[in-house]
Amino acid sequence: MKIIEVKDYQHMSQKAAEYIIEKVLKHPSITLGLATGGTPTGTYRNLIEDHQKNGTSYQNVTTFNLDEYIGLAGTDINSYRYYMDDNFFNHIDIKKSNTFIPQGNIKNIEEECNRYEDLIMNHGGIDLQVLGIGSNGHIGFNEPGTSFQSKTHIVKLAPSTIEANARFFNRPEEVPTQAITMGISTIMKSKEILLLVSGESKRNAMYQLIHSELNENFPASVLKNHPCVTIIADEAAILDLKIPVTKK
Ligand code: F6R
Repeated sequence: MKIIEVKDYQHMSQKAAEYIIEKVLKHPSITLGLATGGTPTGTYRNLIEDHQKNGTSYQNVTTFNLDEYIGLAGTDINSYRYYMDDNFFNHIDIKKSNTFIPQGNIKNIEEECNRYEDLIMNHGGIDLQVLGIGSNGHIGFNEPGTSFQSKTHIVKLAPSTIEANARFFNRPEEVPTQAITMGISTIMKSKEILLLVSGESKRNAMYQLIHSELNENFPASVLKNHPCVTIIADEAAILDLKIPVTKK
């Protein structure tokens, strides 16, 4: 795992956007795996700004998002479809038909999980997967205890995840308790992974990621088995970790 240390959230967002832009310019029909949450919003802002200023095109790019809440329609302001359209897709030239997110408001959720997994694999897999990390070490919505062999599946969200995500909802009771997520094996099949980590609240997760053994109770530890992982982390997340990092 290569770790790039940056000053703060703003620099992480800038660096991550530069990283993604370079890949898109080199491979205009790249398949990106994308994340939601607070961490990547600054990255999406930078990508939009670059698209507007420099014309980087997403016309041939395909995207697969990591996860979606069960029970929310794509029109719901708290759904991840809404988030992606609002924070990124509506502001670039990507074809909406090339943007894929699991459907959370469908009758047969099991079937939807299988369909989504097949869709990714039949497409040829993900070239670059962007990840955030939960303070409990989750990646996607793969909570502690999830099998490293898991494919796209239904998850019951951990109380700590519901609590962390309540900030996006009017009331904590509105946070869905279940989600569909790409599995850990789905994520691990990506050719390359870019993990973004910012803030003091992620310091413990970052510490465990570096120092813990492979362990299903700390899902992100699986990344140690991936041949091509880059982590962009800010000072607040890295402080005192005593790990070899590249300073930018
Ligand atoms: C989001 C996702 C989650 C988040 C994680 C961190 O699609 O899959 O794993 O990346 O919960 O969330 P934030 O960025 O809000 O701290």
